[in-house]
Amino acid sequence: MKIRVTAIAICILFGSAAWAAPPFEVVDPMRGPTPVADEADPPLISPIENKDIKRMRTYSMQPPTIPHKIDGYQIDKNFNRCLTCHARVNTEVTQAPPLSVTHYMDRDSNVLAEVSPRRYFCVQCHVPQAEAKPLVANDYQDIDVILKRLTAPASDKK
Ligand code: HEC
Ligand code: HEC
Repeated sequence: MKIRVTAIAICILFGSAAWAAPPFEVVDPMRGPTPVADEADPPLISPIENKDIKRMRTYSMQPPTIPHKIDGYQIDKNFNRCLTCHARVNTEVTQAPPLSVTHYMDRDSNVLAEVSPRRYFCVQCHVPQAEAKPLVANDYQDIDVILKRLTAPASDKK
């Protein structure tokens, strides 16, 4: 009986403590300090980088980012604007880099005659970049940096 009373007392104590606690604060760098129930002012839309300079790939299988604007480009079952420049047969005229062979492979690695359906919707994987400050910190390390560290003589290791 005593145990039950103590248990109920603890429940009431901690229950009311949780009730009285300040609201849980969520810090979302995209949303800013606006409380969840309020409507935030939408941030200005950053300009899209359009320098036509290829960016380094961060790892070998990374889909390269798009170095040009793609505003209003239609990609649906009827038409693919990207392929008007990037399809193998159009690249001599457009000087766009052609799709690599992986875009023609099905999931069993058979190379097909046409772009594989799983690579048709380009922006599933390829994205343009905004000229904006990063929203969150990033401590990603390039594999070359990691390999260098791993293969460095013990005396150089920090
Ligand atoms: C008007 C022609 C044209 C269209 C349309 C076009 N591109 Fe490009 N794209 C280029 C050219 C030319 C380059 C080479 C770099 C440059 O000049 O911007 C390029 C570069 C790229 C690259 C960089 C490749 C690398 O190795 O870094 C990617 C990825 C890319 N485009 C994807 C797309 C996607 C996805 C679309 C459709 C949403 C698209 N492009 C539509 C002409 C085009
Ligand atoms: C499922 C993800 C995916 C989709 C969808 C996709 N790609 Fe890629 N793409 C990649 C990856 C990964 C690479 C880099 C490795 C490689 O070549 O496979 C790449 C590489 C490229 C390159 C550089 C080729 C080279 O040899 O340097 C171009 C250009 C490109 N893609 C354009 C496109 C276009 C245009 C479309 C739409 C028709 C498209 N991609 C659809 C994942 C994708």
